[in-house]
Amino acid sequence: MTRKQFDEAFSCFQLSEIISNTPSKRKTKQILETFSCSKNLDLQDFLHNKALTFEQNLRSRTYLYFDNETKEIAAYYTIAISVFFTDGISNDIIKLLDGYKDDVRTIPCFLIGQLGKSDKYERFKIGEYMLADALEVIDSSHRSLGGRFTLIDSVNNPKVLSFYKDNSFLAIESDKESESIKMIKPYFN
Ligand SMILES: CC(C)(COP(=O)(O)OP(=O)(O)OC[C@H]1O[C@@H](n2cnc3c(N)ncnc32)[C@H](O)[C@@H]1OP(=O)(O)O)[C@@H](O)C(=O)NCCC(=O)NCCS
Repeated sequence: MTRKQFDEAFSCFQLSEIISNTPSKRKTKQILETFSCSKNLDLQDFLHNKALTFEQNLRSRTYLYFDNETKEIAAYYTIAISVFFTDGISNDIIKLLDGYKDDVRTIPCFLIGQLGKSDKYERFKIGEYMLADALEVIDSSHRSLGGRFTLIDSVNNPKVLSFYKDNSFLAIESDKESESIKMIKPYFN
């Protein structure tokens, strides 16, 4: 699917807009519960049970892609400002991430907390467009605020790791056993 086809097939709305235009919280929840992701139940659970509360409490912003024909939720991403905890990270990497100190416990960053497609849209190759959209929103905040990097906790699966690598993310840990791997998109060189 080309970018043009993607833009024609789907419309993106911020969850806040949906909350404002939906008569009740229950109805909004019902809309969110139509999303399913059997490959990643965390992604599904977040949209079903947390996204609404997080949006209303300004913890994060969720952006949903609706299929223009069926009006179904095809995919979503959630972004936020966050902090990166440096526990277990080498001093060299901490210095690189922080910019100049190597002994800090936390470093401010942007976060892509969730990103993925609903089961029915599994075969639509749209991940790179969603990621580009998420990064565009973050880039505009970055231009105003600064910030060293965008963080994502990627599913520790070779195909998902390659997806982020192909889109300029670098792994900053390499634990083969863990469920997720922290990856960053740096704004520094
Ligand atoms: C990650 C994602 C957005 C990439 O989308 P895309 O660029 O359109 O590419 P695809 O969906 O074809 O995924 C690429 C490959 O990774 C695999 N993959 C994707 N997510 C996976 C997961 N969570 N676990 C295992 N494999 C996964 C796909 O099956 C596909 O494999 P294939 O090439 O053999 O068909 C999308 O696959 C997705 O929504 N995955 C499920 C949700 C998820 O895990 N998100 C990542 C959170 S860090």
